[in-house]
Amino acid sequence: MIEPRDLKTLDKSGASGAHQLKHVAIIMDGNGRWANQRGFSRIIGHKHGVKNVRTVVKAAKSLGIEVLSLFAFSEENWGRPLLEVRSIMALIDQFIIRDRKTLDRENIRLKVIGDLTRLPLKTRALIENTVEILSKNSGMILNVAISYSGRADILNASLKLAEALKQGALSPENVTPEVFSKYLSTSDIAAPDLLIRTSGEHRISNFMIWQLAYTELYFTDVLWPDFSEQDFYAAIKDYHMRDRRFGLVKTQNPESLPL
Ligand code: IPE
Ligand code: IPE
Ligand code: MG
Repeated sequence: MIEPRDLKTLDKSGASGAHQLKHVAIIMDGNGRWANQRGFSRIIGHKHGVKNVRTVVKAAKSLGIEVLSLFAFSEENWGRPLLEVRSIMALIDQFIIRDRKTLDRENIRLKVIGDLTRLPLKTRALIENTVEILSKNSGMILNVAISYSGRADILNASLKLAEALKQGALSPENVTPEVFSKYLSTSDIAAPDLLIRTSGEHRISNFMIWQLAYTELYFTDVLWPDFSEQDFYAAIKDYHMRDRRFGLVKTQNPESLPL
């Protein structure tokens, strides 16, 4: 049994430094297989997946994590059968309606990245309204990727950057990776320190591809609806055992790098 207090003391580099775990991102995968294994429809799997979001949000908060990013629905997922897509949208609505009070009580802020113009009007309005209501909070940022594509994120950033160059607001010699990052949907949050993907798949599936450049990757066979608080702590324990070098050698201080 891993206790949250054990995790806070495991950081090799001490309380601060490049190893500090501020941002955890999760590709919540395996709802469909979880349901299939039980003879249920995929939609029941998504329902149980949403339940598990609550568990993991609570666990992340208990550890003092600053940003928790969750990949809920990809741009490619629009291609799934209509009934499944509609059910997922309805589950997003339900989650927001049922949980926004709790999120508020927990001082959590909500951020949503992705192409919200493709969402049903009702879902979009619920999201925008909740983001606004929770924006006064000061605690953990729950960053949910919906209708999200990492490539589209980079493409949109490039177009905005091109416009700034055209307008003369920026000159090409000043465009660095750090400047470019400011045009991405994640401009206001640091890059993930740890990415967890459940369900045994070893791929990124077009999640924050720019932002994950130096993220530690953790893969587990556990299907998302079964991914428990203890599984989450185990991933974090693993993270704290790693050496993040950012291309340097061990004795150098990666903190000096502009990440
Ligand atoms: C993840 O579970 C949730 C979404 C992509 C919306 P899946 O629905 O991909 O589950 P599997 O991978 O088919 O088991
Ligand atoms: C990635 O899972 C997207 C989400 C978890 C929302 P997918 O199930 O869509 O990814 P692939 O198809 O296995 O790459
Ligand atoms: Mg999947």
